[in-house]
Amino acid sequence: MEDLSTLEKDLMDTISAADDLAALDDARVAALGRKGRLTALMRGLGDLDPDQRKDRAVALNALKDRINQAIETRKAALDAVAIEARLANEKIDVTLPIADENVGRIHPVSHVTDEVIAIFADMGFEVAEGPDIEDDFHNFTALNIPAEHPARQMHDTFYFSSADESERKLLRTHTSPVQIRHMQTTKPPHRIIVPGRTYRCDSDQTHTPMFHQVEGLVVDTETHMGHLKGCLLEFARAFFGIDDLAMRFRPSYFPFTEPSAEMDIGCTRAGGELIVGEGDDWLEILGCGMVHPRVLEAVGLDATIYQGFAFGMGIDRLAMLKYGIPDLRAFFDSDLRWLRHFGFVPLDVPTLAEGLTL
Ligand code: PHE
Repeated sequence: MEDLSTLEKDLMDTISAADDLAALDDARVAALGRKGRLTALMRGLGDLDPDQRKDRAVALNALKDRINQAIETRKAALDAVAIEARLANEKIDVTLPIADENVGRIHPVSHVTDEVIAIFADMGFEVAEGPDIEDDFHNFTALNIPAEHPARQMHDTFYFSSADESERKLLRTHTSPVQIRHMQTTKPPHRIIVPGRTYRCDSDQTHTPMFHQVEGLVVDTETHMGHLKGCLLEFARAFFGIDDLAMRFRPSYFPFTEPSAEMDIGCTRAGGELIVGEGDDWLEILGCGMVHPRVLEAVGLDATIYQGFAFGMGIDRLAMLKYGIPDLRAFFDSDLRWLRHFGFVPLDVPTLAEGLTL
């Protein structure tokens, strides 16, 4: 009968000599596999006398346990070494700058939206949002655009079909309905900006059926046109990064503001190229005005106590102006080459503290 202590030493030696998982598995098979040395001895138990068999079985089982234990221990040691080796090999230096070309790009509309938000957030505005699918009341009536008002035709509205005309929904034609929703659900003072998608049935080189606006609304007990002017001047100068950017207000008309104005910024078109902040020409960038008392009344605010101002501007247009993007329709073509050219690196998040992208 084979001497168990020699066998044990042999098997233990091969186990501890195994220097990788494959060698360790070979050692296991040589001991405990179908044709393994220990397995053979176990099989031989049946040929022994019953009185010998019991002691031998106990000894063999104990040996089997020790071998299994040794294999486990060796495996744990080899695993630890393997992990150490991987850690040493796969080291990455997280302080290195990212490889720009390996990440996607942020669309100019998203980037400009973030820039606008950063500027107004710094002035204490909150971001508010509302639904793209609106009803007549929020998109028109509450904004002092009653049913037969000509401004309804001006908006080229997309309507959903509905059996009952008075209930039909529409795609919001501007972000102004969010003024109403916000004032209906929260208490003044209000100071919000509302970036979002807007829709009009219009398509040519400078119009797309879906476009983006950002709305602003401030309502308080002592809000006047001076606040409106100061706020928008501050915005335009920060956005274009021009400290002495010229601006002017022209009287205009919106049903929901009175008085209403359009704001122009100084520019030049000399040489066929539009340059903001130079020359003596003007470029319209937004509509604004003091909130019409009827709008305040529509949301249950006392217009003898509260006043406010509102403004709205096209984000796509702002992006085109600031970043010299020539064709509006390309914004919505999903052309990756275009996005790589005009898009922004994702980690380049606009903040006022670090400076906007100029
Ligand atoms: N809602 C207007 C538009 O879409 C813009 C605007 C908003 C004008 C707020 C004045 C005040 O043209």
